[in-house]
Amino acid sequence: MNTFGKMLKVTTFGESHGSGIGCVIDGMPSNIKVDTNFIQNEVNRRKGGLNLYSTQRKESDIVEILSGVFDGYTTGAPIGVFIKNNNAKSKDYENIKNIFRPSHADFTYFHKYDIRDYRGGGRSSARESIARVASGAFAKLLLNEFNIKVRSGIYSIGGIECKDIDFDNAINSEIYSLDKNIENIQKEAIQKAKRNHDSIGGVALISAFNVPVGLGEPLYYKLDSIIGDYMLGLNGVKAIEIGNGIESSKILGSQNNDEMCKNGFLSNNSGGILGGISNGDTINIKAYFKPTPSIFKPQKTISTHNEETILTLKGRHDPCIAIRGSIVAESMLALIIADMLLINASSNIKYLKKIYKNNKF
Ligand SMILES: Cc1cc2nc3c(=O)[nH]c(=O)nc-3n(C[C@H](O)[C@H](O)[C@H](O)COP(=O)(O)O)c2cc1C
Repeated sequence: MNTFGKMLKVTTFGESHGSGIGCVIDGMPSNIKVDTNFIQNEVNRRKGGLNLYSTQRKESDIVEILSGVFDGYTTGAPIGVFIKNNNAKSKDYENIKNIFRPSHADFTYFHKYDIRDYRGGGRSSARESIARVASGAFAKLLLNEFNIKVRSGIYSIGGIECKDIDFDNAINSEIYSLDKNIENIQKEAIQKAKRNHDSIGGVALISAFNVPVGLGEPLYYKLDSIIGDYMLGLNGVKAIEIGNGIESSKILGSQNNDEMCKNGFLSNNSGGILGGISNGDTINIKAYFKPTPSIFKPQKTISTHNEETILTLKGRHDPCIAIRGSIVAESMLALIIADMLLINASSNIKYLKKIYKNNKF
């Protein structure tokens, strides 16, 4: 299944070393101004090859908009986007043609489909996530119309947590760290893992600001359940936390409850969601990424013929997938909120009456 969303439906296609990656975004309302520089910049934020903390695969990642935009505005037609692959080095993967990388999707894809596109991981590669970022950029254009902003940054690397949360710092940081005082310690942890031919896990914080009350469709398309669904569907995300999630399971109701006054909530342990519906406060999500499975340390594994062997990997890999993953997670949250916004417009007769005021054109 390669489609997600209900009103704003995104279908992605393409493989890591195929001709390219693309998506079709269906359900985007017409008359949204499309800033192509903004779309390209969003995609560039996910780019590898820019510094020591990401994969050395250098793609140009030029976004080609094929349809659904005319004279700088969305037309309401499906938006087609294509991004060419031009820096694939399939030779690097020849030696693992018949060998599974431990903790990669190689093993399960092979057993499920009985055919293996070993080049860069084929469809299981997070190269696909570029399509999520491109479609997320379109979702952000929709959210901009309502002044809703989604931001992200690295909260922790290898358990080294940020103390201050500063999304502006994340923008300028090579590792998208939220805290300039912790950033160098986090960078050193990544470098140390790299020196040891290893990789390291991390956590991204994703926040959505200015989200109105009422987004989310109980009981089976709740805002929090869909956030879990979309985020856990992202490669390498192994846990997701909403608001004070994990900590709330250890404390008392009196400590966790968000008391209220006429101006709003006095705390935000709920992470902006109650009963599966946005409560008007900032939505706060943490996505927990495992360490990159492809590491350069020799590891025990098996071949496609079930023979035991030792894998010594070549190629280009992210030492910490959470870094570029944070941008993808941010795009996913933008897509969820945009979808929920569109669905919500038909959830209440009052909203519909505002649209169809007098049944006339
Ligand atoms: C942005 C991003 C970049 C990634 N880069 C790599 C990589 O360079 N090498 C690798 O082995 N895995 C990488 N991954 C993770 C794998 O795609 C993923 O762990 C693997 O397919 C197994 O799936 P699972 O961890 O979701 O179970 C990356 C993930 C993301 C989100």
